[in-house]
Parts: sequence; C-alpha cells; structure tokens
Amino acid sequence: MSTETMTLPTTGREIQLASRPHGWPVPENFRLAETALPELAEGQILVKNIAMSVDPYMRGRMNDSKSYSQPFELDAALNGGAVGEVIASRSPERAVGDVVVHLLGWRDYAVLPATANTKVDPTLASPTAFLGALGMTGLTAYAGLTRIAAFKPGDTVFVSGAAGAVGSLVGQIAKNLGAGRVIGSAGSPAKVARLLELGFDAAFDYHDGPAVELLKDALGEGEGIDVYFDNVGGEQLEAAIELMNRGGRIAMCGAISQYNSTEAPVGPRNLAAAIGKELTLRGFLVGSHADLVPEFMGAMAQWLAAGTIDFDETVVHGLENAPTAFIDLLRGANTGKMVLTLD
Ligand SMILES: NC(=O)c1ccc[n+]([C@@H]2O[C@H](COP(=O)([O-])OP(=O)(O)OC[C@H]3O[C@@H](n4cnc5c(N)ncnc54)[C@H](OP(=O)(O)O)[C@@H]3O)[C@@H](O)[C@H]2O)c1
Repeated sequence: MSTETMTLPTTGREIQLASRPHGWPVPENFRLAETALPELAEGQILVKNIAMSVDPYMRGRMNDSKSYSQPFELDAALNGGAVGEVIASRSPERAVGDVVVHLLGWRDYAVLPATANTKVDPTLASPTAFLGALGMTGLTAYAGLTRIAAFKPGDTVFVSGAAGAVGSLVGQIAKNLGAGRVIGSAGSPAKVARLLELGFDAAFDYHDGPAVELLKDALGEGEGIDVYFDNVGGEQLEAAIELMNRGGRIAMCGAISQYNSTEAPVGPRNLAAAIGKELTLRGFLVGSHADLVPEFMGAMAQWLAAGTIDFDETVVHGLENAPTAFIDLLRGANTGKMVLTLD
C-alpha cells in the first residue's frame, strides 16, 4: 500500500435513487445518504471525487426497462462519469495523487479497481474538462461527426442541441475540419447568440416557430443539409429529413425531446423521404468508438491549444445539488457541459 499520511475516510456521501421518475424527474426521486466505505482490497484504489458529470442518458437508466445500459437500482447509489484524486492505493497501477476519470460518480468517495479508470494529466486542463471536451462528451461529438456522419470538407452541417456539451463541440469541430456552413439550434436567445460567437454561421431558437421553417430560413434559399447531427429527435429530426440533400447523412446521437415524455413521439413522420434522397440514418453509442480516443485526443488538444475550439461549462457545486443539476440539465439550464464540483 502506498504511504499515506492523511486519515482516510470511513464513510462517504452518495446520491441514491429513491424512486423511479414517471415523466419529469423530481427531487423526491433522489436521496442523499451516508454509507460506510469498504476496506480497500488488494488491487483497489480509493478516490476522492473532484467533480462529477450529469448526463441526459442517465434519465433512461432511471426507468425500470432494458436499454443499452443497465437500469439504476432502487435504493442504491447512482453512477456515472467522475474525476477524482487517488488518496489510497493497493495497486502498483495507481499512486496516491494520480488524477483519474472513472464511472463511480454521484458520491464523494469511490472505491474501485485500479484498472477500471483512466489516468489523466491534470496539467493539460481543468479536471472538469476531462468530463467534457476532453472526455466522453468530446469523443461523442468527434466520433458522431467524423465516423458516423462521414463528414467531408465543404459539407453543410446542422446540429440540434447546439449550445449543449456535445452539440457545441460538433459545430466547432465541423468548422475546424472545413465545413461549408454550420447551423445550430438551441433553446434560448442567449444560447443562439453564444453559438454565433463560437463561429456557427447561423443559429435559431427552436421555440420561435415550426422547426422546418426556422431551419429553411437559416439554410438560405434552396440550400440543403449534408450532415445532420441529431441530439434531440422529434420535430427537429423531421425538419432535417425534409431539408437533407441527396446522399445526406444523419448521426443519431440522442433524442432528448422524448426522454421525459409519457406520450408517443411526435415524429419523424417523413422517414420515407430517406428512400428517394438516399439518406443514411445511423445511430451510435460513444462506447463503441473507443478506438478513436488517441486520434480524438490529439486533435482536440491541438484545437484547444490553438484556441479554435472553446468550451463552456455550467458548474454547480456540492453533491447535495446533484439531483437539481440533473433536472436542470434536462430543462436546458446549461450552456455547454453541466458538471458538479465536489468538496
Ligand atoms: N449516443 C451516445 O453515445 C451519446 C453520448 C452522449 C450524449 N448523447 C446524447 O447527446 C445529446 C446531448 O447530450 P449532452 O450531454 O451534450 O447534453 P446537453 O446538450 O449539454 O444538455 C441537454 C440539452 O438538451 C436540450 N433540450 C432539452 N429538452 C429539449 C427539447 N425538448 N428539444 C430540444 N432540446 C432540448 C437543452 O438545451 P436547450 O436549451 O437548447 O433546449 C439541454 O441543455 C443527448 O440527447 C444525449 O442523450 C449520446
């Protein structure tokens, strides 16, 4: 065991799922609990979490239904991306002081195998960046755009949820890779203004009218879309299908407009248009594209260093505020990545 002078904690706080949400989650679906930390076994590390991520996909895991990831268990701690500092280690793989990204968020302290995490260089960026632009979020944007949507220089790109964590990176990566035009949609005038600052060529607030009309105006007379990066599904997906160019590609990343819905989705009702336009619609999960990590990290580190990609964070402090931060994320309170810093 590594030498350790500080007194190690024997208990930790965690957020548990107290009940499963029906429709929109409410604070009562969550519980803050104090539990005993297990003794470190051989090969394990104890991590003091510095920050944790709240992500839209967690909403699906709160339902008791099978999806691509396991449902969260009732009365047990939630989990998800987190970054923290190793404060005790019983493995040669990790030393006290290492900063690691792992999947035991929603708690102050995590006990995990020394092999089930990624060591990061804290001199490269702030710890929260490894949950966003330099983490799963950034990889989602990069893999979805370059591999799933097979982006080519000159393409006209439309991205929904564009002021969010993934969407804001998609638009900027597309610009860096030589997109013709990049159009974004978001949920407020302030977010639209931010997208223009980030270099999007046009942006609209999807609350301002029918998505197809707003998108048509943003594209300009007679112009179509080559790549649609879909974060929201529903009406905006339908609008994009309507305005795709022949041979266009749609990366189906998320459908947040439906995550809290208790009714049938509103669309798309025009899927058959994909036949005549020879469209490709392809869903993907970031976890299946880990092979792109070295390429993505190299490119993103360069873009960040050159200042050609910027990323926003909406930071909430304190584990006890994690449920509200998660609910606020679903309601669009964030610009860029929603993260929680922990004591
Ligand atoms: N496939 C994968 O592997 C993968 C990985 C990561 C994320 N995702 C998906 O990618 C999407 C974005 O995730 P993220 O982490 O970057 O979250 P995010 O965009 O930072 O946050 C969610 C945003 O969704 C928007 N939103 C909420 N309700 C909406 C609605 N009815 N219509 C349109 N927009 C709505 C809100 O912004 P507004 O103010 O603009 O409404 C909110 O800020 C999500 O659908 C997520 O599930 C998929």
